[in-house]
Amino acid sequence: MLLDTFGRTATDLRVSLTDRCNLRCTYCMPEEGLQWLGKPDLLTDDEIVRLIRIAVTDLGITEVRFTGGEPLLRPGLVGIVERVAALEPRPQMSLTTNGIGLERTAPALKAAGLDRVNVSLDTLRPEVFQQLTRRKRHDDVLRGMAAAREAGLSPVKVNAVLMPGLNDDEAPDLLAWAIEHDYELRFIEQMPLDAQHGWQRDGMITAGDILQSLRTRFDLTEEGADERGSAPAERWLVDGGPHRVGVIASVTRPFCRACDRTRLTADGQVRNCLFAREESDLRGALRDGASDAEIVERWKAAMWGKKAGAGLDDPSFVQPERPMSAIGG
Ligand SMILES: C[S@@+](CC[C@H](N)C(=O)[O-])C[C@H]1O[C@@H](n2cnc3c(N)ncnc32)[C@H](O)[C@@H]1O
Repeated sequence: MLLDTFGRTATDLRVSLTDRCNLRCTYCMPEEGLQWLGKPDLLTDDEIVRLIRIAVTDLGITEVRFTGGEPLLRPGLVGIVERVAALEPRPQMSLTTNGIGLERTAPALKAAGLDRVNVSLDTLRPEVFQQLTRRKRHDDVLRGMAAAREAGLSPVKVNAVLMPGLNDDEAPDLLAWAIEHDYELRFIEQMPLDAQHGWQRDGMITAGDILQSLRTRFDLTEEGADERGSAPAERWLVDGGPHRVGVIASVTRPFCRACDRTRLTADGQVRNCLFAREESDLRGALRDGASDAEIVERWKAAMWGKKAGAGLDDPSFVQPERPMSAIGG
């Protein structure tokens, strides 16, 4: 098991498949993109599957979530999903994606064994999408989501980040639209993980702001702590249910005490927290011929040192060197 000194157990593995992305969301990346990892630095498909196998069979991982960068840009994605689905015990598998290309790939991903997807969409307005992502791909994202729902990759969860002056007036419209299309909407507070280091605590839209805005149109009833478990999203029943809306208050109400995550970057580094400043190198160990037992020990040691909290509200907080796209969001 992957334990830490505060008694938490990691059972949820986030695997970044690439640091590249085909969008340039302003809260994530600069317009010109970043210095991408070179091919030799990336884990191969075989290395990824081996590490996931070790995590599932020897370390108690029960959920695997593929992310990036944009994971649909990884050529071997469907094959990786298929091989992970064949593991015993079989983990739950999901994909966090911007949805571009999902229209084409959703049926193959479902057939390979993927359970569900989270698609990121911050706005219903194509012109605001272009301002936020610096790309004209709004329609591709909408078609990708619909294809995922048709393929049975459900519930399709939608992740939305609100940015002041751009889409912060859209929370009720996004919720009405999600309910109409049977998507499960979750708002995520903007975190200090952008490559440009432009995040400002004073400028961000908080969970409190989002709830206030939603309540202008909907009646929200909070679900109890039992339903939340280790999930990062606090959830509210909308107008008495059955639809729900989630808010991930990573900054103003962090969920570190219940955190059950471990992360693997596309270049094979274990991170015990999104905001960690240290990583543990598994790629080097793999390529030096480490046995499964040696990988297990390294991974356990990396998780044992996990801090109590991410410390975002601490004045001494320092943003991690790698941005969200390189860690895996
Ligand atoms: C980094 S992306 C990676 C996966 C995929 N490309 C996608 O768009 O979902 C994962 C999620 O992180 C969110 N995200 C990126 N930067 C963020 C930030 N600074 N604060 C909060 N969420 C952020 C994105 O909106 C997206 O929902």
